[in-house]
Amino acid sequence: MRIERIDFTDPGDRLAQWHAAHLASEESRPGFWLGLRRFTVMVERGWADNLMEAWVAEEAGHVLGGYSLHLPTRDNVHGCSLRFFVVHPGHRRRGTGSALLAHAGRRAREHGRRTIRITGPAEVAVSAFAEAAGAKLGMVDTRAALDLHAADRPALAGARAEAVRRARDYRLERWTGPTPPELVPDMVRLMEGMNDAPQDGLEIEGVRWDADRYVASEEAIRDAGLLAYTTIARHVETGEPAGYTQIHVDAEEPRGWSHQGDTTVLAAHRGHRLGLLMKIENTSWFQERDPSIRYVVTRNADSNTHMVAINELMGFRPLDRWHHWQLRL
Ligand SMILES: CC(C)(COP(=O)(O)OP(=O)(O)OC[C@H]1O[C@@H](n2cnc3c(N)ncnc32)[C@H](O)[C@@H]1OP(=O)(O)O)[C@@H](O)C(=O)NCCC(=O)NCCS
Repeated sequence: MRIERIDFTDPGDRLAQWHAAHLASEESRPGFWLGLRRFTVMVERGWADNLMEAWVAEEAGHVLGGYSLHLPTRDNVHGCSLRFFVVHPGHRRRGTGSALLAHAGRRAREHGRRTIRITGPAEVAVSAFAEAAGAKLGMVDTRAALDLHAADRPALAGARAEAVRRARDYRLERWTGPTPPELVPDMVRLMEGMNDAPQDGLEIEGVRWDADRYVASEEAIRDAGLLAYTTIARHVETGEPAGYTQIHVDAEEPRGWSHQGDTTVLAAHRGHRLGLLMKIENTSWFQERDPSIRYVVTRNADSNTHMVAINELMGFRPLDRWHHWQLRL
């Protein structure tokens, strides 16, 4: 077995084989399927200007598995994340995962990093693997889905009316696709709100945003074939941006699943039901615009009680649980 770096200018069929291993690993799981286009953008560029590299384990020209290493360059430079770390189900328990992880550890150290974060489903095999490698569980989150065909609209109407009353000092604005240029400074401020989401035992600092970084992240979203539906809340009296929420639709997704992106309300504007109101309005607007989508899938740390409560009220129901591991190098 050899571990080879993917050259994105000439990947051959390495990328497609690694993507196939990812799909084979995910096929029994509910939720959206990641097409090759989105997978490629995520392993080559990520969303927010990390240094990236991607490696696969090969035997006789056949890809057994792979990983991509995301190395932040502006913040969180102490650590890095492994993404799409997977061994094809037909090749497991032969030491490939251990060899890939040891390789990733060496690469991370060469980049001066002290920690690697790895996310995996909360399954016995994955936990056994992570513990055998010496990783520590840092955070648990739950993926939950909203079935738009089964949503209980009358039940939500009361909660919406109450939210409209509590949020009367705010107005909502919305758009599809990239943010209009004049609103980019507002989005940069709003992105900072995501730094307040709980990180539990993971050693993560806040992400520092600026206009260039934000625009680059939207370009990656577009290049991945995703269409973003964005709703923001604005404080009417001061004109200040107060919060935002986003849903992403993947043109390649075959099973009718969309993805709930970030939702945040800046600290000064919390307590006005803006989170709930923005999510209800964004979801029903998106549903009118694209009735072909049946599900919205989201994930939240179990400790994020406010967001989980909003999701439960909207009708999101748990799909499965995920573990975030941290390995000290
Ligand atoms: C986790 C994963 C990468 C492991 O790949 P792998 O090639 O099977 O791993 P290895 O053969 O190197 O296993 C190393 C050790 O992990 C543990 N382990 C791995 N799979 C296990 C299982 N099914 N049951 C119990 N222990 C397991 C064992 O201690 C094993 O050593 P041993 O075989 O000598 O007992 C693979 O299961 C996978 O791709 N899972 C889905 C993707 C994923 O969850 N990625 C994130 C991982 S944190």
